Formats: sequence, C-alpha cells, structure tokens
Amino acid sequence: MPIATAVKEALGSSSMIRKMFEEGNQLKKQHGADKVFDFSIGNPDIEPPPAFHRVFLKLAKEDRKGSHGYMPNAGYPDVREALAKKASREHKVNIDGSHLVMAVGAAGGLNVVFKTILNPGDEVIVSRPYFMEYRSYVGNHGGRLVEVDTLPDFNLDIEAIKAKLSPKTAAVLINSPHNPTGRVYPAAAIAALAEALRAHGKASGRLPYLVADEPYREIAYNNIEVPPVLSAYSESIIVNSYSKSLSLPGERIGYIAVSPDISAKDDMMNGLIYATRILGYVNAPALMQRIVAELTFAKVDVAIYAKRLAAFKEALDAAGIPYTEPEGAFYLFCKVPPKKGGASAEVGDDKAFADHLKQYLILGVPGTGFGKPGWLRFAYCVDEKLIRASGAAFKKAVESW
Ligand SMILES: Cc1ncc(COP(=O)(O)O)c(C=O)c1O
Repeated sequence: MPIATAVKEALGSSSMIRKMFEEGNQLKKQHGADKVFDFSIGNPDIEPPPAFHRVFLKLAKEDRKGSHGYMPNAGYPDVREALAKKASREHKVNIDGSHLVMAVGAAGGLNVVFKTILNPGDEVIVSRPYFMEYRSYVGNHGGRLVEVDTLPDFNLDIEAIKAKLSPKTAAVLINSPHNPTGRVYPAAAIAALAEALRAHGKASGRLPYLVADEPYREIAYNNIEVPPVLSAYSESIIVNSYSKSLSLPGERIGYIAVSPDISAKDDMMNGLIYATRILGYVNAPALMQRIVAELTFAKVDVAIYAKRLAAFKEALDAAGIPYTEPEGAFYLFCKVPPKKGGASAEVGDDKAFADHLKQYLILGVPGTGFGKPGWLRFAYCVDEKLIRASGAAFKKAVESW
C-alpha cells in the first residue's frame, strides 16, 4: 500500500529550512564544522540558564511518587496557575489557570488551537512572509491558509487583512517578534487589527479569533515592549513556548492562554483540552511542566543575541547586503543585492543567491521558503566568532554576484 498522497506530495516539497540544514551538515563533513557559516536553522545554541539545570536536578532527585503518571490533559493545575500569572503580567489581563492549557511547544499548541476552532473549509489569514509550517498546521485540521502581504516595513497591513476577511474567516494568525523579519508589531497595529476584527464580526455575525504565536516574546532588543494581545481583543488566543526563551526546543514545552473575555469560555477550554488529548499529545511533558513553573520569569541572556546581531549587521553592511532592522527574535531578513549591472529595483533571485553563497560556505534560507521571494533569512543563533569570520566570505560573495 502506498502512503497517503498528501503526505507523499508534502515530502516532495520538503521544507527549505530542513534542506539547507541537511546541505549544511554535508558541507561541514567536507570542509570542517568551523569553516561553514551555517545560518540556516533557528536552533538556539545558547545553553539554558543555570537556573534550569538547578531546578531540573532538584526535581529529578525528588522523584516524587506519581510524578511520572498521567495527569489532567490540560496539565498540572498548580503549573497552569503559575503560568497564568506570567501571561497575565505580559498581556495586561487577570487570568487564572482555568484560562491556560499546557502544550507540547508552540507547534503542538498551534495544532491544538486549530483543531479546536476550524470547521472544514475555514480560513486563517496570515501575513507574508511567515513561518511555513503554519500551512501544515492549518491544513492538518481542514483549514485553508489565506496569505496577505505586509507593509514594506513588514508591519501588518490592516487594510490588506480587512480585504481578505470573509464569513469563512475563523482566525487571523500573527507572530511577534516575527520569524523571519524580527519585527515586533506595535500596540497601535494590534489595536487596529482588533478594531477591524470587531467591525467584521458585527457586520458578518462571526467574530474571528486572533491567534498570536509568541515563541520569541522574551527575545526583544533595546528594551522594546512586545505589546499585549490578550487585553487588546476578546477573542484572542496566545501560544507561547520555552523553545527559544529558555533554549529548550528539544524538550517540547509551552502553553496556550485565552483572553479573560473570550466567548463561550468553557467550550473553548474543553475543546483545547480535548484536542490536546486526541491529537496524541495526551498532556505536555510532566517534568518540563514542573520545571518551567519554577522558572516563570527566567530566560536566556538576550544580550548575547544582541551582540551577535551587531556583529552580523557589521558583516552585512561591509558586504553591501541590505536588511530589515530586527526588533526581536534571532533572524536577519536580507534583501538579495542587485547583480552587477542589474537594476536595483528588480526582485532578486533568492534561490540563485542562496546557491551562490554556498560556494563561499555561507548558508541562509531563501525568502521563497517564507512566501517572500527576493529575500533571504540568516539565523544568528551561532557563535559570534563564526559570524565575525563570515564577513570576508560575504564580501567576496557579493563582489562576484
Ligand atoms: C514562528 C514560529 N512558531 C512556532 C515555532 C515552533 O516552536 P516550538 O519549538 O515551540 O514548537 C517556531 C520554531 O522555530 C517558530 O519560528
């Protein structure tokens, strides 16, 4: 028996990020790991903060009776209470554990949310560029992703979103700080989006959800505030994870929280809990739940990422590669520079430029992989030394482009 057609097709168009990652490993075997400037994947290389190891060892040693057993599908009640305090502070609301469900990372959380809210054929509006896995997360649950462009500075284009709202719109999905652009949407943009959704709800009788994917909330620069979402709109749902803020992507731990004003709260929470169970997660990992509850406000040292960003910008400036200034996350979204003799206004060929960079052992992900041709994403969760060493290679690559 063959495997499902949809899966077969998906395998054929495998993620560009993964493809670059595999090519990077190949190049490293050939040339040595320290010779390859692999900026392809957003896998944090900073170790979790020391407090994580301390709490991890303490809880592992305690080995409390029953601590490896099944639990309520929503997660441990005391952990939900603790994280609701965190979400309340960040989102300027007053929610308790009954508004929060523990999740298997942001990816697990988003799947649970879409399973809960989507009817067949429902639409989820997303702004381009975006994290490509969203297409699968929405498709997994019978939904259809509807793409709109952002403004040229990569902020939300509220008019473009409004133009796509329809009776089929179940949700608008936003991500801030943003992968791949590093943009942090200002409070005014969130407010304008909320207003547009309320107006659409009034006119159509269906108030769409606002789903905010926030795994980078804690990674923002220059003391910029990542504006609250839960207090901005009644039908809002946030998904957060510790993959980036505590550098724990392999441990698969995060949470979903809803606005205190959400309609039919009991249905929503029961739906999220049911989806957690039947998607096969059953519950988020037990030990990790107990650890993050003790580390509510801990995070990796963001200053390290800020220093790397500065080093990367120096390298790009020297090479003449334009980029959009990131306000958070750990990506630089760069414009493909014009070819020698080419017009600077034309959209550069991002795949060709990514191939060209490979000759200089530099790996970045073509913007096409995020729905934005003409751009390239570099992840700077790599050693600062490697970033500094890449400067000469970037320069040579641009000179011969
Ligand atoms: C925008 C965005 N959302 C979700 C995820 C998935 O995160 P997690 O590891 O918490 O599932 C990622 C991972 O890189 C991401 O960049």
